[in-house]
Amino acid sequence: MTQLPALLLLGGGKMGSALLAGWRTRGVEQVVVIDPDPAATALADGKVTVVTSCAAIPAGFAPAAIILAVKPQLAAEALAPLAGRIGDAVVISIMAGKTIAWLRALCGAEAAVLRAMPNTPAAVRQGVTVVCAGANVRPTQIALAEALLGCVGIVSFIENEALLDPVTAVSGSGPAYVFLLVELLEQAAIAQGIPADLAATLARQTVIGAGALLAASDQPAASLRKAVTSKAGTTEQALAVLMDPIAWPSAVNAAIAAATQRSRELSG
Ligand SMILES: NC(=O)c1ccc[n+]([C@@H]2O[C@H](COP(=O)([O-])OP(=O)(O)OC[C@H]3O[C@@H](n4cnc5c(N)ncnc54)[C@H](OP(=O)(O)O)[C@@H]3O)[C@@H](O)[C@H]2O)c1
Repeated sequence: MTQLPALLLLGGGKMGSALLAGWRTRGVEQVVVIDPDPAATALADGKVTVVTSCAAIPAGFAPAAIILAVKPQLAAEALAPLAGRIGDAVVISIMAGKTIAWLRALCGAEAAVLRAMPNTPAAVRQGVTVVCAGANVRPTQIALAEALLGCVGIVSFIENEALLDPVTAVSGSGPAYVFLLVELLEQAAIAQGIPADLAATLARQTVIGAGALLAASDQPAASLRKAVTSKAGTTEQALAVLMDPIAWPSAVNAAIAAATQRSRELSG
């Protein structure tokens, strides 16, 4: 597949526009974006048409894929006008919690539907997306989904849709946990007397640098951690606190379990 085929994007917000930027870089035949937000018109260019409703889709436009990137709570309202216009397109939903069964109930029982969970580093093409395909999805449509989502990062497929709940907890919500680490490092630095502006720089750049080091290395994270940890040194003292079973191991497990449970509750 050299150039991506014609695509319909429902929702040109944070995730939708990140995907669109990735498709532009790859090269795409044509994209129609449906988004009622006036700010979305900024997404338009020679290849991208922005319309405010389904009724304004250009006549004869036949997308190979329809990507659903609206908030889950608006999904039923946003999808309803599309029913009957899906044709042979594969439907790819990135909406949290909306199951394949729910999507097929709206799109038609015969619709080819994939459900995907990306994350916000997609905006810098460093995302990770996990995809689950429903019945009726052809191999060429799976390849198209992989190409579309692969424009913004790594793509993995799973067969058990229920695993999308813990996936949401780990990688979908995960960037927030890393940002929280920056905040906590900054606060701890200030508590040790480091001036606030330097504390912010140290916390931020340490996470950016550690991420870049991880990206550049083929070593597991544990090896990189051990490489920083000298016997009886400062890192060892800190890690003894953090790695106490009742500290980070317990907190991270509890956090992921709570987010997984919330994802299950929101599913429909
Ligand atoms: N953000 C994340 O970390 C993340 C990660 C994985 C998956 N997701 C999923 O990605 C989806 C989009 O999230 P987001 O953060 O990109 O949300 P967002 O920034 O709010 O974008 C959604 C866009 O859809 C527009 N919209 C509202 N009603 C519409 C309609 N009827 N037809 C077409 N467009 C409509 C919104 O316009 P208005 O602003 O005018 O309402 C907005 O521009 C969600 O389902 C979310 O679960 C998000």
